[in-house]
Amino acid sequence: MIKKNKLLIRLSITAVICYAFNSCDTADKSHNSDPYEKKVDSLIALMTLEEKIGQLNLVGRDGNRNSATQIGPEKAEAIRKGSVGNLIGVVGAGPNREVQRIAVEESRLGIPLLFARDVIHGYKTLTPIPLAEAASWDLEAIEKSARIAAIEASASGINWTYAPMVDVSRDPRWGRVMEGAGEDPYYGSLVAAARVKGFQGDDLSKENTILACAKHFAGYGSPMAGREYSITDVSMRELYEVHFPPFEATLNAGVGTYMTSFTEVNAVPATVSRFLLTDILRTQWGFDGFVVTDWSTITQLMEHGVAADSSSAAAASIKAGVDMDMGSKSFVKNLVQLVKENKVSEKDIDIAAARILLAKYRLGLFDDPYQYTNPEREKTEVLTLENREAARDIARKSLVLLKNKDQLLPLSKKLKTIALIGPMIDDPKATMGRWKAEGNKEDVITIIQGLKNKLPETKILTAKGADYDTEDRSGFSQAIAIAKQAEVIILAVGESQKHSGEASSRASIDIPGVQMELVKELHTLGKPMVVILHNGRPLTINWINDNVPAILEVWIPGTEGGNAIADVLFGDYNPSGKLPITFPLSVGQIPIFYSYKNTGRPDDGSGSRWASKYYDIPNKPLYPFGYGLSYTTFEYSDLQIEKSKVGINDIVTFSIKITNTGRIKGEEVIQVYTRDLIASVTRPVKELKRFRKVLLKPGETKVIHFSLTTKDLKLLNEELQWVTEPGAFQLMIGSSSSDIRLEGMFELIE
Ligand code: BGC
Repeated sequence: MIKKNKLLIRLSITAVICYAFNSCDTADKSHNSDPYEKKVDSLIALMTLEEKIGQLNLVGRDGNRNSATQIGPEKAEAIRKGSVGNLIGVVGAGPNREVQRIAVEESRLGIPLLFARDVIHGYKTLTPIPLAEAASWDLEAIEKSARIAAIEASASGINWTYAPMVDVSRDPRWGRVMEGAGEDPYYGSLVAAARVKGFQGDDLSKENTILACAKHFAGYGSPMAGREYSITDVSMRELYEVHFPPFEATLNAGVGTYMTSFTEVNAVPATVSRFLLTDILRTQWGFDGFVVTDWSTITQLMEHGVAADSSSAAAASIKAGVDMDMGSKSFVKNLVQLVKENKVSEKDIDIAAARILLAKYRLGLFDDPYQYTNPEREKTEVLTLENREAARDIARKSLVLLKNKDQLLPLSKKLKTIALIGPMIDDPKATMGRWKAEGNKEDVITIIQGLKNKLPETKILTAKGADYDTEDRSGFSQAIAIAKQAEVIILAVGESQKHSGEASSRASIDIPGVQMELVKELHTLGKPMVVILHNGRPLTINWINDNVPAILEVWIPGTEGGNAIADVLFGDYNPSGKLPITFPLSVGQIPIFYSYKNTGRPDDGSGSRWASKYYDIPNKPLYPFGYGLSYTTFEYSDLQIEKSKVGINDIVTFSIKITNTGRIKGEEVIQVYTRDLIASVTRPVKELKRFRKVLLKPGETKVIHFSLTTKDLKLLNEELQWVTEPGAFQLMIGSSSSDIRLEGMFELIE
């Protein structure tokens, strides 16, 4: 009898295991009906408390990346025991396969691991930084870039990326503006969704799609004083209007995970914000994926002064809605004891573990734990010619022509001698940027290389001229000497790899070091001069704008940067990028953005002392949001608004004509802004509502149709509810937020 009972128990466990692991039926992979939830429940029922907590734990590697020593013996043992369920920074198809094998074959339940990595703008083939990509206003290209990153990363052992960063930011002092899509919540939402689609594809369980992570929830883009890791003190209105929309857009795009942020909201650090992690994310938005902390943010709660020790920090985080601890080890250290003491309920741990297991099912890891560790794919699908070509294309699309006096650009390919000067011309690291993932400097096309590829017959004289940020002027004389011999000076100045990215806030956003002195000295030669600006953030470049005839913003352009820059400089690509973030005249104007409020005393330009303005400088920026020139010109005409009065639930439709009035084909980003003239709360002077990037042959005219729905015109009322109010709206269509070419009005009526 006893024996029979034991056998029955064993049989039922086997049935549960077989159900949980898809090993006895063909799995239905459609996510709609969530076929995995029951499997997850069955698996959770088999797990010990320690094993469940192990799923909540993410740790880093020990030895060199992409090597057999990435995981030391202690970590391997922890994986066997089930106390480590996820790893970060462990890469390489072969090495990761071996680590996955330990989890799958040597741990009691064989649950596969998640392998995470910051694949921010490419894996080995680096595309431009996200801020630059946003300057392309080409959502298809942005999605494709993320797709390529996912294909390469997934071929090399990675199944989870910590991207996209969707923090809206209006503070270029903050080094991480380079990682986002700029200042506008509407455009930022579209970019965020495109990037999630690119990473996750249409079926997460495929071998070349990876989990995305929308970060950093939320408000991290408004760090006080622009200082990295500082606090955020924004209003509820700003949260809802500015910071939440891109996160919500990633949710609608099906993002699998969210990351908390280093900052605080309403005096509560994001990692213990029940408001953010439970009320908004789960209750209001219905998110069913999992939430990971940012690096060690649980232990940082002690520094914030909201937890006395790592145990209470762990308890507060899991209760607030965190599912996975990145790097602090607080969950593995404390949760068992906290459950014993009834300070945390095991149910909360079950819920968190279930969410993480669900993600592993959705990734297809229970069907084939080795599908992201395929050495064959790693050999054939990484850094391919095709990927490089796509990187070159998105890089070209990301460049922004800031100034082009007397059509100095494009330069003639017949030039005999060019002086190419500046610290970036031969700096592959600066070309790749900080989030270079597995990018190698040997694979990078620098500006020198790009120009040589483009002009094999031209004499290209080169000199570094200056460092990025030392006082060393010893290279000036050589730079001046070669400049004297050349027909044109191309001078690349700006920021190094270190100047932007995480932990790179700057109090001054001038071009660092003595680079400006070099610009001025070379300018005195009176030769045609082009400045290439490379940077991860807007810079204050007033002198250059006032004095140098041509300026090309190249950001941090990635592996194919040099080729892309040469394509634009010599006219093989007509620049079409537009700034996704305002360039201020001075740091004193920050935060500066196009969608400001009018105030009760707007500056009408009459010079009144009592207007909302500065005593010493104008309010206007150096370059506004949406700004960027082309080698051709566009004429806007014939705005037709279908109905001037529209029912509050109807659709506003209108069209314009756009004509290429120049001599070469080119693309224009048509931008549609509205202003809600009288409302129950104050509204911005302009809000971007639509845009369209249109390619036109010389002389060609196209009619472009737009429509807006009630949803597009809603506002957050005083009670913080989204409503659409009747009333008049100004419609503004133009080439940038401050170059409005067509205006009209329509009215929403009840
Ligand atoms: C950053 C995150 C990143 C994480 C893991 C943190 O310091 O804030 O954005 O994903 O490290 O590398």
